[in-house]
Amino acid sequence: MRLMIRSILIHPDPRLKKPCEAVGPITPEIAALGRDMLETMYDAPGIGLAAPQVGVMKRVIVMDCIKDGTPEPMVLCNPSVIWSSEDQNTYEEGCLSIPDQYAEVKRPAAVKVSWLGLDGKQYERLFSGIWATCVQHEIDHLDGKLFIDYLGPLKRQMITRKMEKLKRELARGY
Ligand code: NI
Repeated sequence: MRLMIRSILIHPDPRLKKPCEAVGPITPEIAALGRDMLETMYDAPGIGLAAPQVGVMKRVIVMDCIKDGTPEPMVLCNPSVIWSSEDQNTYEEGCLSIPDQYAEVKRPAAVKVSWLGLDGKQYERLFSGIWATCVQHEIDHLDGKLFIDYLGPLKRQMITRKMEKLKRELARGY
């Protein structure tokens, strides 16, 4: 099995604004996508990545929020929040599609999520702390939503303009 690091789309890109399709039965292509996405996330490095960020419009996310210690790679197909706590938490979020930009976002402090694993089994788990923020951020990607959509319009436009400039520079080969 050969892993492939896929290139990550940078905002603004229409593929980052579209809702993704549900995954059907787990095929070898979906399994390869999940493994490639983990490899791409670790390489970046980041703690989460959603399929649309590598240009695949499928409901697949990967995560590993362990900073020090044994890695805990997760691949979640068709993830869905089935319960959210009333308690909220504020974290400074970033995104591999919006490099070097960070902002505080308030979200439910804990969420219960159900998903389909690459083994074809259905899972359910309660996430809290950084895992809760990460899973909600990644699920948002599957609905075409970015963390900057939670910010005020001025802050959002400022970040978008910086990203447009970055993309022009990248296109020129800087
Ligand atoms: Ni992101």
